[in-house]
Amino acid sequence: MKAVQISSYGGIEVLSVNENVPEPKAGEGQVLVEVHAASINPFDWKLRQGYAKEYIKLEFPATIGGDFSGKVVGLGENAADFAVGDEVYGQAAVIAGGTGAFAQKLAAPVGKIAKKPQKADFLQAAALPLVGQSALQALETHIALKPKQKILIHGGAGGIGHVAIQLAKALGAYVATTISADDVDFVKELGADEVLDYKAEKFEEKLSEFDAVFDTVGGEVTDKSFKVLKKSLPAGRQGGVIVSMAGAPSEHLAKEYGVNAIGQNTQGDRERLERLAELVDSGKIKVHIDGVFSLDEVKEAFSHQEQGHPRGKVVLKIR
Ligand SMILES: NC(=O)c1ccc[n+]([C@@H]2O[C@H](COP(=O)([O-])OP(=O)(O)OC[C@H]3O[C@@H](n4cnc5c(N)ncnc54)[C@H](OP(=O)(O)O)[C@@H]3O)[C@@H](O)[C@H]2O)c1
Repeated sequence: MKAVQISSYGGIEVLSVNENVPEPKAGEGQVLVEVHAASINPFDWKLRQGYAKEYIKLEFPATIGGDFSGKVVGLGENAADFAVGDEVYGQAAVIAGGTGAFAQKLAAPVGKIAKKPQKADFLQAAALPLVGQSALQALETHIALKPKQKILIHGGAGGIGHVAIQLAKALGAYVATTISADDVDFVKELGADEVLDYKAEKFEEKLSEFDAVFDTVGGEVTDKSFKVLKKSLPAGRQGGVIVSMAGAPSEHLAKEYGVNAIGQNTQGDRERLERLAELVDSGKIKVHIDGVFSLDEVKEAFSHQEQGHPRGKVVLKIR
């Protein structure tokens, strides 16, 4: 079968589309999937670059890719929750116990997949798993966002950000977001109430008394975000909460500002994928696809994700 593999760490040049990769087999607790589509996340190029090589040991050649959608064509032992012919979506990265998503077939653990949303086609379903579950874990689990609360979402036009805006609006919150000037109309259509151009405006001077910040950017953006949150008060008012996707926020600043600060490591599982499918099927969340590429065009696809400032997601159409 055809699969995108790397045999060393590096830039886009290390990606190769290999034609004769052996087909995977469904092991214990896995299903075999004929892949229809997959999507690229920043994690895929960070892994390719070797940023995670200290703690993730890849065996070369390694098939890369995590997010996918497709049809079940085989079942391993203890995979009876699924049947041949099921249309599924989820995660199959090697580090998540799968065989890699950028391939014509993959094996995925049953705990990392679910039936795909009925209202999403295969391209849309493949775009959703990591970004959707990241937004759900942050807004529903960590922040427990309530109606009328105010949340600032950094990077609102990106993969995670554009889903998070829709989820926050579905939960009844007031949403401010930071984006590039080109993306103003895009995020307003998603429901953003207040839009700030991160290259021209200082969000930390314009916003205050927010209940929550969801940070998909990191670095000094995380540090400056403490200023916009509600502080905890001696009379008993609870301070705001910041969740960052890009590293652990400073504990020192959290103490100084009297807020709760969380560095999120997204945990994907079937329950969260089912909740995401429910939100898609009820029309509350729609993923935006900025570019569709074939497996043979994988270098162009990565280049678009890494440098093309995509709105939403970049997808590989595999079947
Ligand atoms: N910890 C975890 O478990 C986990 C899981 C998933 C993702 N992540 C990480 O989360 C981050 C976001 O992922 P993603 O899929 O949403 O990436 P993405 O699709 O590349 O989106 C990032 C967005 O951030 C915007 N941006 C860049 N600098 C900014 C700034 N200073 N202020 C406001 N916005 C800014 C970009 O806008 P422009 O293109 O206009 O610059 C872009 O729209 C990545 O670093 C990823 O690796 C972590």
